[in-house]
Amino acid sequence: MFPLPTALLADKNAGGSPMSSRKPGAGQTALVTGASYGIGVDLAECFARDGYDLVVTARSPAPLQEVAERLARSYGIKATPVGQDLGATSGGQQLVSALQSKGIVVDVLVNNAGYGHAGAFSSSDLATQVGMIDLNVRALVELTHLLWDGMLARKRGGVLNVASTAAFQPGPLMAVYYASKAFVLSFSEALWEEARGTGVKVSCLCPGPTASRFRERAGTGRTRLATASAVMPSMPVAEQGYRGFQANKRVVITGARNRMGAAMARTMPRSMVLRMVRYIQSPHGR
Ligand SMILES: NC(=O)c1ccc[n+]([C@@H]2O[C@H](COP(=O)([O-])OP(=O)(O)OC[C@H]3O[C@@H](n4cnc5c(N)ncnc54)[C@H](OP(=O)(O)O)[C@@H]3O)[C@@H](O)[C@H]2O)c1
Repeated sequence: MFPLPTALLADKNAGGSPMSSRKPGAGQTALVTGASYGIGVDLAECFARDGYDLVVTARSPAPLQEVAERLARSYGIKATPVGQDLGATSGGQQLVSALQSKGIVVDVLVNNAGYGHAGAFSSSDLATQVGMIDLNVRALVELTHLLWDGMLARKRGGVLNVASTAAFQPGPLMAVYYASKAFVLSFSEALWEEARGTGVKVSCLCPGPTASRFRERAGTGRTRLATASAVMPSMPVAEQGYRGFQANKRVVITGARNRMGAAMARTMPRSMVLRMVRYIQSPHGR
């Protein structure tokens, strides 16, 4: 846990939001992981617009602080930045304990933090591969487990998990990342069914290529997928995810092309899908 200031108190006169008490999120708190950069920042903004108080978390203190201050000021909500490495053992537990000590009850959990790594599995760095499972899978399950029973008891709120269109097929040359997102999709759909009729919502957001720092960390910049595919800006991706969550939509795939790709992956012979994914994950020109 990194030392960061406690809650940034809302300027209730800011953002011209005297209506905030009537907004759907008024009186509720959304915890957004990976909210220092990329899709997570925009997901946090979607919740703030609708009057949710926020907890934003990631490893980088400075951008977290900036996001919390900006959203508190713009939307007249309370935003608490908490620095936490969720890839670390018990990172989720540490985060939830920190929130409990501040008296914060989480109504909505947005499991967005994640990273990918491109390249052949052979000779890849083991810590990078296992770290992906720690963050994309273990921390997501840990946080959900810690907060789930409270949501069920209160009969409201829910979980918005960020997977990827990678979830719909295995991913040669990015094998662990695709498998981690397949886990997120499968887990989310199962929880959606377990929560049916309880008042608790579960959605799985599956973006295709989206403008963020993801590509830089994943090293996917030279792949055919990266050079050939359209990249969506992160705000429309977040907005579709947010709306899908509010409608308790089980799976939200952003963009018509990505929806078509996911449908094809489900219906085409697996051997053909594997060869196609290997081709698009190969560096351009090979
Ligand atoms: N961009 C795409 O093309 C794309 C497509 C499909 C799915 N996704 C998924 O979308 C989600 C968000 O990714 P993004 O595209 O917004 O990427 P991004 O710009 O790299 O943002 C990733 C976020 O996760 C945080 N994070 C990374 N490692 C962490 C750790 N160990 N502990 C806590 N937080 C950590 C980062 O903050 P710090 O570095 O400050 O910790 C950052 O806030 C991911 O789950 C990703 O798999 C992205």
